[in-house]
Amino acid sequence: MLFQSEILLDEEILKLKKELNAIILAHYYQESEIQDLADFVGDSLELSRQAAKTDADVIVFAGVHFMAETAKILNPRKKVTIPDLNAGCSLSDSCPAPLFKKFREENPNLYAVTYINSSAAVKALSDIICTSSNAEKIINSVPLDRKILFSPDRNLGRYLMKKTGRDMVLWEGTCIVHEQFSEKKILQLKFNYPDALLIAHPECEESVLQYADFIGSTSKLLNFVREIDAKEFIVATEVGIIHQMRKYCPDKTFIPAPPDSSCACNECPYMKKNTLEKLYLCMVNQEPEITLPEDLIEKAYIPLKRMLDLS
Ligand code: 13P
Ligand code: SF4
Repeated sequence: MLFQSEILLDEEILKLKKELNAIILAHYYQESEIQDLADFVGDSLELSRQAAKTDADVIVFAGVHFMAETAKILNPRKKVTIPDLNAGCSLSDSCPAPLFKKFREENPNLYAVTYINSSAAVKALSDIICTSSNAEKIINSVPLDRKILFSPDRNLGRYLMKKTGRDMVLWEGTCIVHEQFSEKKILQLKFNYPDALLIAHPECEESVLQYADFIGSTSKLLNFVREIDAKEFIVATEVGIIHQMRKYCPDKTFIPAPPDSSCACNECPYMKKNTLEKLYLCMVNQEPEITLPEDLIEKAYIPLKRMLDLS
């Protein structure tokens, strides 16, 4: 149920959007009120594509920092804002640029395929970027005689090694949301709902992925539940995606995969830093703004463009 103040906030945000000639891009893990207001809701690849082609003057990025940074790299002349500048990502944090640089210098023969969940500085040190949607295609595009360094998500990396048959050096990063789904509780749920399909994001641990009926990026998971003739799903990714699943498939049942403890850790604490109120304020004040040095933008653009050209 929407409260009067939320309706007013919605209206103000839409008014400001017009005045600023802004576009609101939102990731599927944003709270449902933000998803409902956005011009476009999507996964990391789709959001990058939208950012690359928009003719809006201001990009309001309702997602985490690396996503807004990507929008800035693709649009250096545009203003890019984010409701909360502290909306980070554990994967991105697990790969600090100085460490990554040192590792690359010590292993100059490795071809660096870097997940988009990384800082602009790490992207600038990489050969090509990928998202969970296009990772397999990107890995398959790397010449067979080049050994790959895959960073920073070891779970996605391990999954890709299995899918592509390529041997890769994996950076030891993980997502704090996807690493905590409980194998034991998922098996209990499968027992209680024998017809339910388990769908999982490839950032999950192997102990969970081994039981999955379908593995994919957020958009691929959404398309799967829309298209397949099944009625019940156990969803092993951040719970925010279930909002769109219920919108598209109101007659189907979606059960969030349970975390190991009784915490709400299947919610990404970084994504949830953005709220409707902060979105409103960021449009009124046109800040926090994402700013990056020109030379960093130029360097990070190269591997990002390589990815967009291939996908
Ligand atoms: P997607 O690109 O699949 O939306 O994943 C982004 C992400 O951060 C998953 O945790
Ligand atoms: Fe990062 Fe995990 Fe949050 Fe995605 S869900 S933004 S990978 S911390």
